[in-house]
Amino acid sequence: MHFILIMRKIYMNKKIIVTGANGQLGSELRELSADSTDRFIFIDVDEVDICDMERLSKFLSRENPDFLINCAAYTAVDKAEKEKDIAEKINKTGTGNLALLSSQLKFRMIHISTDFVFDGKKSTPYDEDDEPNPLSFYGKTKWDSEKEVMKYENNIIIRTSWLYSRFGNNFVKTIQRLASEKDTISVVYDQVGAPTNARDLAACILSIIDESNNFPAGMYHFSNEGVASWYDFACSILEYTNKKTTVLPIRSSEYPSLAVRPSYSILSKNKIKKYLDIKIPDWRQSLKALLQS
Ligand SMILES: NC(=O)c1ccc[n+]([C@@H]2O[C@H](COP(=O)([O-])OP(=O)(O)OC[C@H]3O[C@@H](n4cnc5c(N)ncnc54)[C@H](OP(=O)(O)O)[C@@H]3O)[C@@H](O)[C@H]2O)c1
Repeated sequence: MHFILIMRKIYMNKKIIVTGANGQLGSELRELSADSTDRFIFIDVDEVDICDMERLSKFLSRENPDFLINCAAYTAVDKAEKEKDIAEKINKTGTGNLALLSSQLKFRMIHISTDFVFDGKKSTPYDEDDEPNPLSFYGKTKWDSEKEVMKYENNIIIRTSWLYSRFGNNFVKTIQRLASEKDTISVVYDQVGAPTNARDLAACILSIIDESNNFPAGMYHFSNEGVASWYDFACSILEYTNKKTTVLPIRSSEYPSLAVRPSYSILSKNKIKKYLDIKIPDWRQSLKALLQS
């Protein structure tokens, strides 16, 4: 490579597009990148719909980014069982559009996927190489999205789990609302995973971009450390907000939902820790930081 080109790659500020910018993760990235010397452009469906290939292609050709962080997704897990066409269109086709453009326009894509690609039959943490077998339609569309992104070399996928944030809708806000309405709430105890503060994931993504010259393409797992059931998660939310509401542990079978979720979906973070010098907080520490800030 020509010397000037090498110097540009090393020293020039990067241009980074964030899609799905008004969601939980997109909003955290917006806040966290405010002081960055890199140039971030945040877009959501109102500006550019990732399913509209013509508009998307024009927009990305004009902007010519170095990176695109795809936070755009259809994330309503239960509703996806009924709205299959729209879930598939956004998660598979929309992501496929971005992936194809990453190859044509030579930007590096960082795509986010989910622990719900797994069936939960394991009882030890899932590695990146474990075979997906989604139980829900949402999980299937996200696995499809991974296959789209992996068609092209150089891209990065991060699977994460049980995201929450002060932005958007999530389990933390639902439990806080229920606690203000009821004396007792019932929460399932037989699904185990890792609650993840979207701010920690956003920080991890920004570290990847900082370290991009030494960060190999491929699949990675990231969540907060530790293990929780939804029951544990709810109890901690109430503890950290000093609510006296009683939480009753129930089985998933006592809380019928449209989508089936894995009973165990802990993600091993060994691979990402090998390439990034980051200390991942325990889920309780990160939850407390959000609720007591
Ligand atoms: N939430 C979780 O618990 C969880 C767990 C594991 C993995 N993930 C993954 O993590 C990523 C980020 O999740 P999140 O919780 O931040 O999602 P989110 O809050 O639902 O945000 C998704 C954003 O994408 C936008 N969007 C939807 N369709 C679009 C389209 N066609 N074009 C452009 N933008 C579009 C949404 O806009 P509207 O709101 O207007 O639709 C929303 O602003 C997703 O890939 C998700 O699958 C999430």
